[in-house]
Amino acid sequence: MKPANYAAKAILEKYTPSLQGEYSAFAPANIALCKYWGKRDVALNLPVNDSLSVSLKNKGTHTTLKTLPATATDSVILNDLPITPDSPAYQKIVTHIDLFRTVFGPQPFAVKTTNTVPTAAGVASSASGFAALTTALTGIYSLPLTAQELSVLARLGSGSACRSVFNGFVRWYQGSAVDGSDSYAALLPQQWSTLRIGLLTLTHQQKNISSREGMLRTTETSHLYRQWSVQAAEDILQLEQAISQQDFELLGRTAEHNAMSMHATMLSAWPPLCYWISDSIAVLHQVWSLRKEGLDIYVTMDAGPNIKLLFEQQDEKKIRRFFPSAEICCLF
Ligand code: PMV
Repeated sequence: MKPANYAAKAILEKYTPSLQGEYSAFAPANIALCKYWGKRDVALNLPVNDSLSVSLKNKGTHTTLKTLPATATDSVILNDLPITPDSPAYQKIVTHIDLFRTVFGPQPFAVKTTNTVPTAAGVASSASGFAALTTALTGIYSLPLTAQELSVLARLGSGSACRSVFNGFVRWYQGSAVDGSDSYAALLPQQWSTLRIGLLTLTHQQKNISSREGMLRTTETSHLYRQWSVQAAEDILQLEQAISQQDFELLGRTAEHNAMSMHATMLSAWPPLCYWISDSIAVLHQVWSLRKEGLDIYVTMDAGPNIKLLFEQQDEKKIRRFFPSAEICCLF
């Protein structure tokens, strides 16, 4: 049995399933303010550092599961298009469902999954996708899982999915257990009604190096990576302080510094890894000069060229004027 199946079994075998005919679930996408970058265990998606994110509320993934007769094979519809068993997305979804079937026995499903998250804007749909799929599986088998168990199971599909089982500010605790049982995300109690994220799509092109591959290359070859977990630990403390005091300057500064530092570890990998395009750099300079002129605006970036703007409600009009194509998200 694979390590992920062992880890899932330890949770699922505590419960007696009662299979429903159909179940639908939604999970939000999330944007990390302190990034998850680097795995200490690749098979179980166990991170090298704690991370902290904010969810995009109603932008994410809707997933419906229906049970099929025992002789059927799984069918998957992704964004209204059927996908075939030879596609990587189909295989990832089926592998995740197998975590449950290994424990509860064979049962084919029809999966329909639709993203409302703008995938082209570089917002990972895998996080909301695996969180929604895990929630739907838990529902269709009627399992009264704890939030912690749900988060651990989602993590086995995609690391950052463990944060997408919640709305709001979420911290993913890296944990130290080899089986990953203490590596889960939890909701922070604070809300911040005036906080906004603007999604700026600079290119619709798919990246050619996945974050999985990027993390591996960075952890194996970047000398700067040694410093990463030290900085991430400090950044988490600063972010938690910023959130509890609603100190936007501290939040923005820490999130931007964290994202730039993550990209610095990528640039110092070998062969070098750069997800930015020239437009990303142009926007960064625009943001920095607007900030110099007094506008409270910060950025964060993930493993891609697109930019997420961080600002507060009072500056929304100005942000719309300077970045007319930004998709603005209310978070609370
Ligand atoms: O969970 P993954 O494999 O999609 O990795 C996410 C990595 C980043 O988006 C770069 C950072 C993060 O914490 O979301």
